[in-house]
Amino acid sequence: MIHSHENGRSPCPGINTFANHGFIPRDGFNVSFAEIRAGIVEAANFHPSLIDSIIAAGVGGSTTEYDDTIHLDDLAIHGFPGEVDGSMSRNDIFFGDNHSFNATIWDMSFAHFHNPVVSVQDAAQVCVDRFAADDAANPEFDPKSPEGTPPMTVCFGSAGLYMLLMRDADGNPVRDWINTFFRHERLPEGWAKWPTPVTADDLNASLEAVMAAASGLTPSVRRHLL
Ligand code: HEM
Repeated sequence: MIHSHENGRSPCPGINTFANHGFIPRDGFNVSFAEIRAGIVEAANFHPSLIDSIIAAGVGGSTTEYDDTIHLDDLAIHGFPGEVDGSMSRNDIFFGDNHSFNATIWDMSFAHFHNPVVSVQDAAQVCVDRFAADDAANPEFDPKSPEGTPPMTVCFGSAGLYMLLMRDADGNPVRDWINTFFRHERLPEGWAKWPTPVTADDLNASLEAVMAAASGLTPSVRRHLL
């Protein structure tokens, strides 16, 4: 049941963070894509066209009466586009709750960040290990990704997103900020939005850097999942 949770929040730490700060309507119901786009431009300086491409990949349906609005918990509708198995901080739909922050899962992901600045290698290892653990635990594990891309692409793209959002003025993704973002769904103290618009090219470059780093990891997992 999509609307079993009543806090108007989603499986996306980004959307939830922006709603928690009021950049997206706080109650999370009947929110228009225009409000989401404007809120993320204002909060994070992501380029509108990049936000539209994330919306295209992240919205699997709407339970409002209108095509141009969603309840934020509609983002938990399972399947690509939408919510998928193998998230870094959420469980799979097979286990019941595919949308709430799961501290046990995030603790395992976060344990990969060995340094104050998160590297693409560590970000890649999170996805690889998460998929391996999930593949073992969930008999119905079924990662989805855009047509023609490897199964871990959504995880690599999500890694690209948090690395672009939670970087300091020198461009370094800050481990503690990433933790605050996932765990508390807040913009961390000291964080500032990137001074120039973050574009689709930036996300592609970040995703590809994480994907390239993953290709050097754990060959047995790579054979099955990359
Ligand atoms: C600055 C903008 C955004 C950032 C930084 C961001 C970040 C993230 C991250 C890091 C995840 C992975 C969570 C995990 O694996 O546990 C995620 C998941 C997700 N995001 Fe966002 N997001 C953004 C915008 C959006 C938008 C605009 C939408 C759609 C309206 C969206 C929909 C989703 C969905 C459906 C998921 C779940 C995918 C899954 O099951 O792993 N996101 N997002």
